[in-house]
Amino acid sequence: MNSGLRIGARLWWGVPVLLVLLWTAGAFAVEVFPGLASTPLVTVWLIPVAHFTRDIAAAITVGAIVIGLILPGPVSGGTAYRQVLRWATTWALIWLVSLAALLILTISDIFAASPVAALRPNIWWSFLVDVSIGRVFLYQFAAVAIIAMSCTFVRSRSGGWVTAIIALSAAAAPSVLGHGGVHAANVSASISLGIHIAAISIWVGGLVVVVALLMIEPNLSSIILPRFSFIALWCVIFVAESGLLNSALHLGDPSQFVGSFYGVLVLTKVVLLGVLVRFGWLQRSKVVARINDGQQSRARLARYAALELVVMGAAIAVSVTLSRIGLTPARTTTGEFLPPATVLLAIALPLLLVWSFPQRSPRHLLGRRWLVWLGGFQQLAAVLLLVVVAEVAGVGILGTLLGPELGVLLGSLLLLAAGYIWAASVVGSQSMAGIVIVMLGWPPVMWLIDLLATDPVGWKTMVLTIAVTEALLVMMWLRRSSRAGSPEVTSSAVAG
Ligand code: HEM
Repeated sequence: MNSGLRIGARLWWGVPVLLVLLWTAGAFAVEVFPGLASTPLVTVWLIPVAHFTRDIAAAITVGAIVIGLILPGPVSGGTAYRQVLRWATTWALIWLVSLAALLILTISDIFAASPVAALRPNIWWSFLVDVSIGRVFLYQFAAVAIIAMSCTFVRSRSGGWVTAIIALSAAAAPSVLGHGGVHAANVSASISLGIHIAAISIWVGGLVVVVALLMIEPNLSSIILPRFSFIALWCVIFVAESGLLNSALHLGDPSQFVGSFYGVLVLTKVVLLGVLVRFGWLQRSKVVARINDGQQSRARLARYAALELVVMGAAIAVSVTLSRIGLTPARTTTGEFLPPATVLLAIALPLLLVWSFPQRSPRHLLGRRWLVWLGGFQQLAAVLLLVVVAEVAGVGILGTLLGPELGVLLGSLLLLAAGYIWAASVVGSQSMAGIVIVMLGWPPVMWLIDLLATDPVGWKTMVLTIAVTEALLVMMWLRRSSRAGSPEVTSSAVAG
């Protein structure tokens, strides 16, 4: 039981991310309407944590049941299968408890009542039966209770499939309550969110269970890893497709992706998905392809999976924030960029691109001759990046000339291009100058963008934006310093 609770522990790194994002978005402030009761502060703080716990518990339960189905041999006989089902039962029970907590907190939130008042049986029972949100909870309670029971006695593969379908439907059920569900006509938003949550549950929960299982049954790696790798690939395709469709249905115009907090969070998820795809590729090429290396390949699997789970936890935290804050108004009239959007487009995405294609020299990646020349002067590339960010996102030169939508599209491409030239020039060189210039220049540029904005973002968003950028740059610095000190690099520099 104890080891069952510990699996996927790294996903909980998402909780601090969730709290910081909600604090930045001002989602912990209690709205006060004169003469009316307000939602208690404890409810406002606890709801997102219960929501996050429910998502994690649902994913691990689904993952355990699905991994049980891809185990080799007769399902009832294997110790691995029994272990996986024990994890499924444990996490189904955690799912039930988190659902109960979320139900009480949701009642408290909607009716601005204390959670203790929401505990009265007549209140929660009428909520479960009479209100549409309550009926979704009711379905989930019933489905998860069936899963918890059936995991203790399922002995056939067909029984496993039925349990998996019930688990997936219970995990995806909240999609009818999402922002698609609010507008009843928007069925495609609900369906795409349902597919998104189902694919996420298999992928995230599956990874947690595979890693935990291989630590106790290493002999299974040559069978389980290729099978799970194939499933994970399809999950990523469904996650990206459904996530982008769902956000396009909510946001519509390109300017909303860079001009609203909701849009910026969606862009953050795109970057996090890119990081996960890169880790997935490293797993495929360095672990799955060399399964017979034994101990070494398992150590690599554990290392990459640990990082993947932290990033997955952060992505789930961003998702819970999205569903908590809802759609926020964008600066559509002017096509302005929020400061955090510039970090994602001009720093994070370009670094991800350069990191994802290391087999080609960064200079080579620049392609054109004059770009290669520019990439050779990283100080110039860094200053160019700062100027482009200030002009595009601060002065809004393209928006003024071309209108908000075209301006945002071209502006985003320009930010990406300037960021890419800088990232490629910095990553390939021994000097730190390009990193230092951006470290020093970024805060004033962000301040300028906020000063020129028609609707300033507030100090919390500014602090978070600058802190994330500086953290990324410090990480680059440390990575470069450790590489410069490694014997491999030193000897190649001497030979060169
Ligand atoms: C291309 C990348 C992605 C995009 C565009 C995207 C977009 C979205 C959108 C628009 C929603 C609906 C939020 C709402 O209720 O308003 C959502 C929900 C969700 N996403 Fe993603 N997503 C992406 C990747 C990911 C990744 C990598 C994960 C986790 C590893 C993830 C986990 C989730 C979860 C768990 C929910 C449901 C949140 C809830 O409980 O309400 N997504 N996503």
